[in-house]
Amino acid sequence: MNIVVVGTQWGDEGKGRVIDLLARKVDAVVRYQGGSNAGHTVVVNKEKFVFHLIPSGILHPGKKAIIANGVVVDPEQLLKEIGELQERGISMDNLYVSANSHVVMPYHKDVEKWEEALRGKSKIGTTGRGIGPAYADKAARRGIRMGDLLERETLKEKLSFNLKIYKSLLGITYSRKEILEKFLEYGEKLRKYITDTSLFIYNLMREGKDILFEGAQGTLLDIDHGTYPYVTSSNSAAVGVCAGCGISPRSISKIIGVAKAYTTRVGEGPFPTELKNEIGSLLQERGNEYGATTGRPRRCGWFDGVALRYATRVNGLDELILTKLDILDKLDKVKICVAYKFRGKIIQDFPNRFIMWRECEPIYEEMEGWKEDTSKVTSYKDLPVAARNYVKKIEQIGKVPIRLLSVGPQREEMFATP
Ligand code: GDP
Ligand code: IMO
Ligand code: MG
Repeated sequence: MNIVVVGTQWGDEGKGRVIDLLARKVDAVVRYQGGSNAGHTVVVNKEKFVFHLIPSGILHPGKKAIIANGVVVDPEQLLKEIGELQERGISMDNLYVSANSHVVMPYHKDVEKWEEALRGKSKIGTTGRGIGPAYADKAARRGIRMGDLLERETLKEKLSFNLKIYKSLLGITYSRKEILEKFLEYGEKLRKYITDTSLFIYNLMREGKDILFEGAQGTLLDIDHGTYPYVTSSNSAAVGVCAGCGISPRSISKIIGVAKAYTTRVGEGPFPTELKNEIGSLLQERGNEYGATTGRPRRCGWFDGVALRYATRVNGLDELILTKLDILDKLDKVKICVAYKFRGKIIQDFPNRFIMWRECEPIYEEMEGWKEDTSKVTSYKDLPVAARNYVKKIEQIGKVPIRLLSVGPQREEMFATP
């Protein structure tokens, strides 16, 4: 089985902990897009791990952890993550990095900062990890790939050209020598991991191995299918898997979505069900909604069923995993957005224009809260009836079956629906 796990909202749905759970049953876990903008949390025996570039399956000994060509790799961050994990006793013997993945360079972070400042009030609120500019260089065909860090002459030539571009753009004269030597050193340190991951994955598939594809960000942050321009710069919906790994669309067996039981968004951009009131603050506090990468507070709101229906459609979701149900425990009433209203008209489908995301008003269905502690619940039948009704409503509105529910961040705090 080759399974894709994808975020259905604006990221931080709990993909990391889902990957950690599913990784037990597969042979390899693959990151296929994004970069160190991602922050995937896994909690094992109260010990917390936050992964930015390394697949969240690495905690399971013997499983291959693959960073495929669609990822943009910050080598400094990758080495840091490798070092920190090794210090905690995690082996890196099974880490593989695509020679064709693109490298995040220092000027990418500078140009991102510059552009965000220039945008002023309409800034995107990026993570500052150089992600957008690295993908822009890839599309402009001047990107530096991980394999280039292994060849002095190639890197020198590519770097010279890029430094000319960034000098005229930013007015900064970078030291070619300094960057060249530093990145060649990164290359040397990472040499043993760098390989042809498309071929490697293909061979695993031919041997009948099971593979898990770990999405970063979420459907609504997808460069094509998200709330553009307030998105990330890669295809973070399931559509990104094949291009991001160099595998055939025929090889995917199953697509699993992950959704949080409410909605969060970090950074700027439209968010129809956002709650700028005490309920929003309660969700933020109880859910500890602070970015795993930047520490920024995440904006919080009600569950958006229209957006889930959209994610079901564009990803072709087979099933959904719903996380953080426990965070809603204290609420008297819970609401689910079932449609939008735009300029007097009811809209059932997720809009595809900025003005509509910004101006549409959510239409809610209100339900009774359960006002009970669910964090110790270990089976579906023990959930309060009102919580089960809430889950059923999400399934019905989102048009996707919910297979697993989580009520806590720990590995075992997750159970199946009947
Ligand atoms: P990801 O980017 O999709 O992997 O999600 P993040 O790791 O950025 O954010 C999810 C956060 O919620 C993490 O801190 C998780 O430990 C935590 N979490 C995940 N599932 C649950 C849950 O069911 N209940 C609670 N209380 N916390 C959870
Ligand atoms: P995970 O994988 C939540 C958001 C940023 C910003 C926008 C563009 O942990 O779910 P970028 O730095 O990518 O150019 O920023 O995307 N963003 C995320 N939000 N979770 C993430 O990753 C995110 N990665 C990027 O906050 O709004
Ligand atoms: Mg995250």
